[in-house]
Amino acid sequence: MKDEQLKELLGEMSLKEKVGQLSQITGNFFMEGAALVTGPMQQLHINEEDVKLSGSVLGMIGAEVLIQLQKDYIEKHPHHIPLLFMTDIINGYKTIYPIPLAQGASFMPELSQQCAAMAAKEAAASGLHITFSPMVDLVRDARWGRVMESTGEDVWLNSLFAKAMVEGYQGEEIRSKDKLAACVKHFAGYGAPDGGRDYNTVQLTERTFREYYLPAYKAAIDAGCKMVMASFNTVNDIPATVNKPLLRNILREEMGFWGVLISDYGAMEETICHGLSADREEAARLSIEAGMDIDMMTGIYAENLEGMVKKGQVDEELVDEAVMRVLKLKNEIGLFEHPYKGADVTREKEIILCPEHRELVRKAAESSFVLLKNEEEFFPLKKEEKIAFIGPYVDRKHLLGAWSPMGDIEDTVTVKEAAEEMLEGWDITFSKGCPVMKNVIMAGFNEFHEKGCSEIEEQKLLNAAKIAAEKADKVVLFLGEHYLQTGEAASRGNLDIPEIQQNLLAEVKRVNPNIGIVLFNGRPLVLSGIEKISKAILDVWFPGSEGGRAIVRTLTGACEPTGRLPMSFPYCVGQVPVHYDEFKTGRHYTMEKGKERYVSRYLDIPNAPLYPFGWGMGYTEFTISNIQLSKFEMTKTEKIYASVVVENIGKQKGTEVVQMYVCDVVASVVRPVKQLKGFQRITLDINKKMEVVFEISEDMLRFFTVDGSWKSEPGEFILYIGKNSATDNQTKFWLLE
Ligand code: GLC
Repeated sequence: MKDEQLKELLGEMSLKEKVGQLSQITGNFFMEGAALVTGPMQQLHINEEDVKLSGSVLGMIGAEVLIQLQKDYIEKHPHHIPLLFMTDIINGYKTIYPIPLAQGASFMPELSQQCAAMAAKEAAASGLHITFSPMVDLVRDARWGRVMESTGEDVWLNSLFAKAMVEGYQGEEIRSKDKLAACVKHFAGYGAPDGGRDYNTVQLTERTFREYYLPAYKAAIDAGCKMVMASFNTVNDIPATVNKPLLRNILREEMGFWGVLISDYGAMEETICHGLSADREEAARLSIEAGMDIDMMTGIYAENLEGMVKKGQVDEELVDEAVMRVLKLKNEIGLFEHPYKGADVTREKEIILCPEHRELVRKAAESSFVLLKNEEEFFPLKKEEKIAFIGPYVDRKHLLGAWSPMGDIEDTVTVKEAAEEMLEGWDITFSKGCPVMKNVIMAGFNEFHEKGCSEIEEQKLLNAAKIAAEKADKVVLFLGEHYLQTGEAASRGNLDIPEIQQNLLAEVKRVNPNIGIVLFNGRPLVLSGIEKISKAILDVWFPGSEGGRAIVRTLTGACEPTGRLPMSFPYCVGQVPVHYDEFKTGRHYTMEKGKERYVSRYLDIPNAPLYPFGWGMGYTEFTISNIQLSKFEMTKTEKIYASVVVENIGKQKGTEVVQMYVCDVVASVVRPVKQLKGFQRITLDINKKMEVVFEISEDMLRFFTVDGSWKSEPGEFILYIGKNSATDNQTKFWLLE
């Protein structure tokens, strides 16, 4: 439809119809049990008429059911306006790829773009129009369960992934049957809750908010993201859902986003609990005045807006403005001409979990693994070794992560299944050793109850594991968090692996100290204890449908782990939040200061995390030379080229992720000790070397200066090029006036 036709349609709609377009409810209101419920089910105060007029549906997917629902709905709707179907496709629909934090570890946004495109293909064939992804909240606090949905602590890396995911979902033409509209979330600053406790207060300085927490949303919007979801938290002490300065001034005016803005699940009602809205009517008024277009799952708009417009408490123009944005989105997606869009029962069966998709997600998993430690070349394993695979993750299918409820764990390949399929002639035994957790009753989006074992069963499992360990040359322990210990509403004050697994590790070590760990996690965990008693640690996060095959290929050297940490792993939870791009402070602590007391340090733990941002190893060894600069000074219009020589001095072909960081030595506000400004994945054969060149331009040096403008300031800069954020391989250059 043309815009004029949309305007005509709007003019013909009743006020009740218009309000209906601003209401989103779960598919369960149309078909009992048909929708994934991703939040508390509360009383919505809506009636049959409201359901019939609701403009979008949450949590429903499947070609046949959505075609039928759309058909029935359009027939009944007074103006035959099609429904929008939206849900959370975060790291895959049915063919599941690694959780976003693992994708961040790949340092390969292009791979995430391919995965997002694949997910869009599968979900669009199943009738979906919009995914509530990418989640681009910057994270520095591993206690927060939703760090698994983020790509980490670095603002620039997050921005690269945000752009890549939006482009993957939406492609060049959003009307294409294989594409989804993307909804970037959670606007804004949701990743910085006090205490790392989900839904808690966020308190950020204006500069920190703008410099670290906003850019990735901007990157998604600049990539053409069609929707934005507001966050549960407060921004400057006002809940984002009703925060006019945030939504109208920053998001729309400053960032130039004129698409549809949706609240998070129940968030409009929660403004009452926050103590901002007095009641549902005030929540409705404040939300529509703040420019909130769609009310997700509270019924507040449906229940109140029509009456409030008629009473003159809400300007109908505000409703019209919001409805027009929703109609335009439906039009952009092509629903007026093609209300079923990509929904196709045959195609759905053909492409979901097809070999090509499995191959892609296996590659994505392999690229996300981070080898944290590898003494005595423990990994890769050798065929001639007698090996015991021990642990609750040896033969466990729950490898999909907390935000993959649409994925079917039966489609997941476990480590044991992959080993038995791929490792003919290897001498490997398998034993569970213990359950993931003792007597687990974990509630997730799909109610999940994993009963533990009896004391007798536990003892049997442990004894079998110890016998297996005793007979083996090498023990590989597959340990980690329960996947529902991560994700939404999964904040943790303790970042250790479950106690029962710590016990397994200790017991196995007693009979065979030749131990390597494969770690399954949705956040940085505290590994200080584990690190001391294991020779190697491979972090595989929650790797998705092909996790088992990816892990076995990596453990046996068929492929090399090339991931690098997108988030610092703390030495202990007392360090949290810990991140590499910290400020110096007036009493900066460096190792040289040794035992000096009056510096910014702890008495009982180190300042440095156990593993820093950018950390990771491979199966070979690289050297990186000192840095050469094309020149030491540049004006704002010039560039400097920095080069290093990277050499593979190890025993096999391998990949290094060469990283470039910059420090602004003196500025009108304090600046981080270093910030990531470039990285290159370099693959070299044995004894081969190559020159790696980075371009430095003035735009990389910009920041929010003391007067709030986004610009660079002349002066001295330190340039680092190395293997991770702890590198001290440095040189200096100057930016001239
Ligand atoms: C949840 C999440 C949000 C998700 C939404 C819809 O509460 O906060 O990320 O997209 O509800 O499922």
